[in-house]
Amino acid sequence: MKRKKLTDAKVARYWNKNAASWTEQVRKGWDAYREYFNNPFFLKFIGNLKGKYVLDAGCGEGHNTRILAKRGAKVLGIDISKNMIKAARDEERRNPLGIQYRVASFSEMSFTSENSFDAIVSFMALMDGPDYQGAIKEFYRILKKNGDLYYSITHPCFLTKGMDWITDERGEVIAYKMSDYFDAEPRVDHWKFTKGPVPDSVEPFAVPSYYRTLSTYINVLIDTGFNLRRISEPRPTEEMCRKNEWLRRWRQHVAIFLYVHAAKLHQPRGQA
Ligand SMILES: C[S@@+](CC[C@H](N)C(=O)[O-])C[C@H]1O[C@@H](n2cnc3c(N)ncnc32)[C@H](O)[C@@H]1O
Repeated sequence: MKRKKLTDAKVARYWNKNAASWTEQVRKGWDAYREYFNNPFFLKFIGNLKGKYVLDAGCGEGHNTRILAKRGAKVLGIDISKNMIKAARDEERRNPLGIQYRVASFSEMSFTSENSFDAIVSFMALMDGPDYQGAIKEFYRILKKNGDLYYSITHPCFLTKGMDWITDERGEVIAYKMSDYFDAEPRVDHWKFTKGPVPDSVEPFAVPSYYRTLSTYINVLIDTGFNLRRISEPRPTEEMCRKNEWLRRWRQHVAIFLYVHAAKLHQPRGQA
């Protein structure tokens, strides 16, 4: 599928179809990577946002948006999928946390003015949208001076189209193989939450995926004017692996996630 054809509108259609099943499974706690690995590390990475006005960019049905709100942030969640936002709003009506939701692309947020947010958080969404550069420009515009951007994505160096595990004769993982790092052609991937108690009958999600290099992710931030504060490649602890053996390969061989923290400088570079 050609890059230009996999537009925001198409992404929205795919996620509208995924939304009901995604909502049910996430709320049942079947996204085991989120529960046992990604959320504990990423929530620590973003730190305390209590009292801050925060945008959750690509919020889905709002599972993590609600975590931010329960921790005291005032949150606006946006997502390109109207079905995801409907699920999030329904939950907000049932159990109000003061969260606002809106259907919007994180690459086009003309509904909000510049210098609006103290922080922007994006959980596992930026590799699912076609216009990363547009998103970063929008984030820079709508962040207040000294505001923070935090995002998590699948690790661009390892979660490539050519990724695979190498196993021994007993089927034990002994190494990792990757290729096609520079192949930036987007495609629709099909995957399930495999580590929770997900019945075989559950259909895989169809997810438009955008493959970018690490330098693209980082240099777009720098070129936009962001100050890169920290990156992290979370590694499961030994204790996590003892509880969930399936995590061990991500401790032993490669990083599955990349976390980025960038800040909007008080004074743009060159104007000191
Ligand atoms: C893997 S899900 C993650 C959802 C949520 N952040 C979570 O952690 O549960 C990716 C989400 O990104 C949304 N998305 C993809 N492209 C987007 C865009 N351009 N603007 C806003 N949301 C987008 C999808 O609709 C989907 O809900």
